[in-house]
Amino acid sequence: MNRDLRLGLLAAVAAMIPGGVLAALGVPASFVVVVAIGSGVGVVVALGRRWHRQAAAGIEAQTVHLRGAIGIAATAGNIPTYWTEHSITPETLTLVQQLIAALGARRVLELGSGLSTLLIANAFRRAGTGRVLSLDDDGRWAAQTSETLAREGLASFAEVRVAPLVDVTAGGRRAPWYDLAGIAEGDRFDLVIVDGPPAWKGDRLARLPALYQLRRHLSDNGVLVLDDAARGGESEIARQWQRDFPDLHFRMVGVGRGLFVVSLRKSTLDLLPA
Ligand SMILES: C[S@@+](CC[C@H](N)C(=O)[O-])C[C@H]1O[C@@H](n2cnc3c(N)ncnc32)[C@H](O)[C@@H]1O
Repeated sequence: MNRDLRLGLLAAVAAMIPGGVLAALGVPASFVVVVAIGSGVGVVVALGRRWHRQAAAGIEAQTVHLRGAIGIAATAGNIPTYWTEHSITPETLTLVQQLIAALGARRVLELGSGLSTLLIANAFRRAGTGRVLSLDDDGRWAAQTSETLAREGLASFAEVRVAPLVDVTAGGRRAPWYDLAGIAEGDRFDLVIVDGPPAWKGDRLARLPALYQLRRHLSDNGVLVLDDAARGGESEIARQWQRDFPDLHFRMVGVGRGLFVVSLRKSTLDLLPA
């Protein structure tokens, strides 16, 4: 329903209910009219202010988003920076790249390839060191990301590996998650970015196994980040991780669609915005 129409209807209801009650109680008509108008106007003002605040917050979020996208485009050279609803947001990627720089992270493991893989690989190329390994369950999408990496001359800084989803028991449930057969037991990563498997395919807790399966692959000062952490499923995952890993350190960062940061070292959290 159109917002103005909804506002009009709510104002009418707000005017009619107290007006009707007072009229039924035999209160003088002039008083009833004043209360009814006052109540209707009150609803219009309160809802108008609320919607205005929401619109202002939306514009603010878009501004941050655009600023991030422009900042990244400025350093991306000729790499096409196409942001889709599936991509990590530019503001989250900026924070991830700051984290990579601050940690001196050279070995990054990503779950869910795409634009993030290209841009992290590009940052490694500019730094002259570092490598991202991205696991993807979707062979066609993985091939597309790999082709773009090769076309942009980034293949030495990133690899996309197809990892089909297989049933995994972790965190008290059995559900499909990435097959880690391609990762050697001794492999260690400074940063793990959890941006898959896609929750929109039906399992809102699809990313739950990540910390249970990958903790042993984190380097001594390793960090794991969970994207889309403001969503219901990911918030639940974050709560369960905090419960099940009391020796780790956690911070929810209100950037993009929410980034939940898990760190082996408490001091690493100081690198993050509050
Ligand atoms: C959240 S996406 C990963 C996005 C990626 N990290 C990025 O920032 O571009 C998770 C999965 O969705 C699938 N996918 C399907 N269509 C996609 C698209 N247009 N963009 C990104 N991922 C897509 C891929 O299999 C991918 O691994």
